[in-house]
Formats: sequence, structure tokens, C-alpha cells
Amino acid sequence: MTTTPLLMIPGPTPVAPAVLAALAEPVRSHAGPENAATMIRIQEGIRPLVGSAASRIHCFAGAGTLAMEAAIVNHAAPGDRVVVISHGYFGDRFTEIARALGMRTDVLEVEWGERADQDALRALLGNGDPPALVCFTHVDTSSGVLADCAGTAATVRAAAPDTVMVLDGVCATGGIEEAMDAWDVDVLLTGAQKALSVPPGLALLAVSERARRRRESLGEIHAYYADLRRWDPSVDDPRKYFSTHAVSLLRALEVSLDAIFAEGLEARYQRHERVAAMIREGMGELGFEPLTNPAFVAPTLSVLALPDGVDDATLRAGMSERGVVIAGCLGPWAGRGVRIGHMGTVTETEAARTIDAAAATMGAHA
Ligand SMILES: Cc1ncc(COP(=O)(O)O)c(C=O)c1O
Repeated sequence: MTTTPLLMIPGPTPVAPAVLAALAEPVRSHAGPENAATMIRIQEGIRPLVGSAASRIHCFAGAGTLAMEAAIVNHAAPGDRVVVISHGYFGDRFTEIARALGMRTDVLEVEWGERADQDALRALLGNGDPPALVCFTHVDTSSGVLADCAGTAATVRAAAPDTVMVLDGVCATGGIEEAMDAWDVDVLLTGAQKALSVPPGLALLAVSERARRRRESLGEIHAYYADLRRWDPSVDDPRKYFSTHAVSLLRALEVSLDAIFAEGLEARYQRHERVAAMIREGMGELGFEPLTNPAFVAPTLSVLALPDGVDDATLRAGMSERGVVIAGCLGPWAGRGVRIGHMGTVTETEAARTIDAAAATMGAHA
């Protein structure tokens, strides 16, 4: 008997049968009333997830990286100063994108597993050259660090009142509460494939009024598909064409949002905390300790050091044979640990299956 492999990597995450069924519905017109209604429901559904009452919600075909690129290219010009707070591989990606777009970057490089120091950030911001953009990551999927969004945003806003703040929520939105308005963040970007429990393929951005004004002030930019101004008419009226909407994925996201609100946001965030604690405790009993500073671990994934004598590839292959797929580490932690995603639809049942698969693999190789 074969069972469906359980995806416990930090994205893409398992997708509920109702969401998969939505993908199998007949394809709709991208300009028709059904898709327009879906898009409006998505806009209404994403706002409470990102904690914004009135931001403009963009949702188009593409991956999280496209949303990162759109966040940068729409709100700063070549030559502008961009400050990046990097907690790892995905923070560094902001730097790479800004440099590719000809911007000047200043990076607050944080030791992997630790959190950005607010004094160091203040020093970087207060050097007399206010940044056009400050970019940071809610949960860096490489180091497992949960950023202090409220503290960081307050530091940034105090030092640079006009800066556009960009927050990457790819490994957070839908699994951790976000408060874009309260934090005064201007662009919160995310993807469909993690805590929103939809297959990969949708880039999402919530855009504040301050960011919209910045986009206006830039005029022509070096982007076409990623130019949010070209998408604006179809955000306001989803029957308007700019580029063909990913109609089936949008419908899948609508169904997933229905499930998210049926569960309730508070209950969902608490479930993420519970399942994270269960994974860390169960894996801890097998000798896996967090590589991330335990004070800064995120509820959406765990980055765990391999116990002495346990080989990364052997462990992951053995778990995969037992039907559970986990990920290796990236960058300086490659080969030293594993990453286990526990977000979206993942409950205690999947957490138990993961811990059992690790235990059985280790027993078999002992
Ligand atoms: C925090 C974070 N940001 C950005 C990305 C990039 O998203 P994508 O792989 O969809 O381009 C990822 C992907 O895992 C991520 O975890």
C-alpha cells in the first residue's frame, strides 16, 4: 500500500482535499463575474491575515520571489539606498534583488539563529542618508528566526519617518498574527504555498497608502509585469484585464481562506504554537536541539541540529521511505541540521507521524 508522502518541508505545505478539489473545477474566464467575486473575497480575506484594514491587495501568478522583487522595484529607484535586515538566506535575497536593480544596499547581517540588534539597526539608519526602503523578513525559513516585527518597525519609523518598510511574510502569513497597520509596515508580501495552504504559484502583496504614493512619485520604472501600477485597475475591478489571472489557483486560495476563517484566526495561530511545541519536544527527546536561539524560534518551522552520529542524508532518506519528507539546512548550517515545516494544515497528527518516522529511522540505523 502506498500512502501520500507527508510534506513536512517548510513549504510547499500539505493542501486540504477541498483546496485540491477547487483546482479540479472547470477553468473560468479571467474576466468573468465568478473570478471577480473570488478576487474580491481574496482581498477581503488577506486583509485580516496581514492586519491591514485598507491596504491594496495584489495577487498574481508568480512565486514569493516575484513578490519580493515587485516590493522593491515599485518603491525605490536605481541609486536609492536600501537597508536590509538579514536573518539568513531569504534576507540576503532582498539584498541580491536590490543590487540587481541598481540600488545601493546596506545590510545588517545578523549571526544565523540570532535576532537583529536594535542599536545596530539604529546606527545603520541614522547615518544621515535616510533609506528609500527598509526590508526585513518575518520568519527567515533558513535560520528559523522569528523577527521582532513591532520593535524593528518602531525603530525604523522613528529613525526614518518617510521610508517604505517592506516585510516578507512568506513563511508567516496565515500561521502567525501580522499587524501591518499597527506596525506601520508599508508592503507585506507573501506567497500561497506555506501557511496559506495552497499550491505554489501566487505572489501576494498588501500595499499601504504611503507605498502607493511612493510608486506614483517614481513614474516609469524598470518593470512591466511586476509594475503594480499596471495591475491597479484590475485590483479595483477584477474584470479588467492586465495579464491573465491564475484563475484556478485563485479559486484554491479562496477555498483555503474559507477554511482558515472557519477555524478562526486565534485558534489557527494557537494550533501553530501547539504543534511547534510538540515537534520540538518530540524531536528533542530524540536528541535534536534547535539551531535557532530558542528565544527566537518561529511557530511555523523548526531548524534542528542533528544529534551526534546522525547523518543528514541518511535520516532524510529513511524518513522519506517512511512517508515523511523533511528538508535539509541551507548556507552555513547545511549538513548540520534539518528543517521541519509545521504550518498551514499541519496538526498534532502530522507532528506525531513526523516524530515517529524520525524515531523509526534512527532505531533502524542504531
Ligand atoms: C521567507 C521566504 N521568503 C521568500 C521566499 C521565496 O519564495 P519562492 O520560493 O516562492 O520564490 C521563501 C521561499 O521559501 C521564503 O521562505
